[in-house]
Order: sequence, then C-alpha cells, then structure tokens
Amino acid sequence: MAFFTGSLFCLVCLVATTIAATTTPVTPPYYVITNAETPSLNRPGLTPVGQQRANACIPQIFSQLNIGLILSCSVDKEGKDGLLCPNAVLTATPLAKALGLNITLCATGEGSKDECVPDKLQAFFKTSTKSALIVWDSSEVDDLLEDANVKDAGMDIDDTVETPDVILTVPGLGVRVRPIATSMNCTGIDGPGPA
Ligand SMILES: *[C@@H]1O[C@H](CO)[C@@H](O)[C@H](O)[C@H]1NC(C)=O
Ligand SMILES: *[C@@H]1O[C@H](CO)[C@@H](O)[C@H](O)[C@H]1NC(C)=O
Repeated sequence: MAFFTGSLFCLVCLVATTIAATTTPVTPPYYVITNAETPSLNRPGLTPVGQQRANACIPQIFSQLNIGLILSCSVDKEGKDGLLCPNAVLTATPLAKALGLNITLCATGEGSKDECVPDKLQAFFKTSTKSALIVWDSSEVDDLLEDANVKDAGMDIDDTVETPDVILTVPGLGVRVRPIATSMNCTGIDGPGPA
C-alpha cells in the first residue's frame, strides 16, 4: 500500500512537472511600452506627437486589453537614472484615468530593488485574472527586461522596445515563451510618411 501510494504520488509529481515544463502561460499576458515621444535634451513633457500617443492612441488600445495594473518608474535617488520616468508616468496617466487605476511606481537606478517589478506583477497576478501594463523609461528598458526575466525567454529585444510605438507582449510571468513586438499603429503618427 505504501508502495502504491508512493508511486501514485510520483505519477502526480511527474504529471505536474510535465505541465509546468510546457509553455502554457500560468498568468495572463503583460505588456511593456516606453515613454511616448519627448523633446530632446531632457526638456520636460511630451512632444505633440507624444501627447497624441498618450492621450488618444494608448487609451484606445489598452482599454481593450483588460488591464488591471499599471506599473511605471521613478527617477533614482541620486537623480542619475530613470530621467525619463516622469515622461513615462505622463504617458500612462490618460490611460490610468480612463481605467480608474492608480499608477504603481518602482524606482530605477543603482540603489533600487531589482525585484520591484517582478514582485508587484506576481502579487497582482495572485489576486487578479487581468493583464498588466508596464510603462517604462526607454533608456532603462533593458534593465527592466532583465529584472523581469523577460530576456530568459530568448529574445533580443534591446533595440525594438526602446521605440515609442512598440508594444512588447510577454505571454505570462515566468513563462519561457518569446515575447512578441508589435506596433501600436497609431493613426497619423506611426508607419511611413507620405512619399
Ligand atoms: C488610488 O489611490 C487613492 C489614494 O491613495 C485611493 O484612495 C484609491 O482608492 C486608489 N484607487 C485604486 C483604484 O486603487
Ligand atoms: C499593428 O499592425 C500589425 C500589422 O497589421 C499587426 O500585426 C499588429 O497586431 C497591430 N498592432 C496592434 C496594437 O493592433
């Protein structure tokens, strides 16, 4: 009987392990975008195109995607890293207002907690079946993706996601499935200009 129970346990273990090892996402997807277009030389705010993206295009896209958490970033304590975080927050604000959500912040830079974003995603997915959106400083996105283990999924995303129109869809938290990059296709501001 002990033997039988033992092997039954093993069978259950084996099945559980097999399921965990396949690529079925265990959480809903989450999305990563960067701050919308900003003026050069660290001048504050968004450009007119960036405002159009933040005010019209982003709310239109993400209000369809069942977003329950918006994560963004704050400048590091020494004021060296995350300088585009205020712009990322500006980018996320119209959507947050439309959805009635607060923007949750994680700090960037040397002294910050690398686990902030993955921890907050994990805590959120524990109690929600909705998706999450990360709106990050474009110059810090590389670190973010490393911290969130997105890079382990085997995609070289360094150059793709630093562009304001790119949406990176990560199929699930801790899932080793390649994230997918798409354009927001915002009317009038993305895609080729007139010939
Ligand atoms: C957002 O934050 C405010 C102030 O802390 C709080 O009163 C409100 O309940 C929060 N809203 C949501 C949706 O969490
Ligand atoms: C943008 O257009 C491409 C090509 O048609 C499509 O694959 C992608 O899903 C679109 N992006 C969004 C956010 O709808």
